[in-house]
Amino acid sequence: MILETRDLKKYYPITGGVFKKEVGQVKAVDGVSLKIERGECLGLVGESGCGKTTFGKTLLKLLDPTSGHIYFDAPEEVKVRKAAKERRYDLATFKGTRLKDMRKRMQIVFQDPSSSLNPRMLIKDIVGEPLKVHGLARGLELRERVLELLNRVGLTSDHLFRYPHEFSGGQRQRIAIARALATDPDLIVLDEPTSALDVSVQAQILNLLQDLQKEFGLTYLFITHHLLVVEYISHRIAVMYLGRIVELADTRELFGNPLHPYTQALLSAIPIPDPEVRSHRTILKGDVPSPIDPPSGCVFRTRCFMAARECKERIPDLVSLGDEHYVACHRVRSKSRESAHPSQNDLKR
Ligand SMILES: Nc1ncnc2c1ncn2[C@@H]1O[C@H](COP(=O)(O)OP(=O)(O)OP(=O)(O)O)[C@@H](O)[C@H]1O
Ligand SMILES: [Mg+2]
Repeated sequence: MILETRDLKKYYPITGGVFKKEVGQVKAVDGVSLKIERGECLGLVGESGCGKTTFGKTLLKLLDPTSGHIYFDAPEEVKVRKAAKERRYDLATFKGTRLKDMRKRMQIVFQDPSSSLNPRMLIKDIVGEPLKVHGLARGLELRERVLELLNRVGLTSDHLFRYPHEFSGGQRQRIAIARALATDPDLIVLDEPTSALDVSVQAQILNLLQDLQKEFGLTYLFITHHLLVVEYISHRIAVMYLGRIVELADTRELFGNPLHPYTQALLSAIPIPDPEVRSHRTILKGDVPSPIDPPSGCVFRTRCFMAARECKERIPDLVSLGDEHYVACHRVRSKSRESAHPSQNDLKR
């Protein structure tokens, strides 16, 4: 495992009045415990505003977590001990040079390359910047490394002395990927990297990302609201709703056997050519509640057709129902227990 978050929270303060006093909080990420395995692509899906970007940025400490832990590349034994030693690996506590050193190993690529690439910088400087900042190369070596990176993402020496506006959207995203690769990272957070692109260009970028992952043994956290993209590229998928993970499973398992009512609704909203094929559609009622004042208990209960009293009273834990398939739902858990009974009786007989 390369990264683990434990009960990670990120609340944004809401200030008001003349004295800018804190009058409330946006609970953008509200207790996420997630493990990312080395070399995998973990997809993170959910509707707009559910906290995906906030989670990705908090992971890299581009945002300070409100509470919780982020263990990056920590030895197994460290994570089981609750001692001061743990802090040595807890990114949440890192500052200054230690944080800077860690940043080399974790990068991020955003959805809109035109706003994430400085319009006044030449491509050679954009891609070379992380190498300079971290003191990894200079002079001729720097120039060679930048060219090597550009070549690897499908660009050439002709592009070195141009500005971002001279490129197409797909090419700009290639530049952002080259820059993310510059420090030879272990983990890259890809935040909707293809969502702003045409379908054909999307496919090219996805293939490039897959090739790079294999070649450099990279680990990805792939954030998107596009389920077909995430099905194509991810090994496992985590489904997020209002700041929490509600389901986590292997990609094939999640698409073949979605258990959480929210995941079922998301999947049944995918347009399919023949409507006869999927007769069972789950339509979500109402809007996503405000993360400023989320519902008590299960945050999905206000839109859930299975909601019962206990859903209002207790927050469901994300628990395994076997085969590394995790679900946070009181109703699915109790259902599976009921269905487990007959077979257990059979065994006893
Ligand atoms: N800087 C901020 N200050 C206050 N609230 C914020 C800030 N950034 C995000 N939020 C709020 O936090 C919640 C989560 O936002 P976030 O951008 O993480 O969601 P997202 O899942 O990435 O959405 P999208 O799919 O639209 O990119 C939203 O309710 C958003 O309005
Ligand atoms: Mg986002």
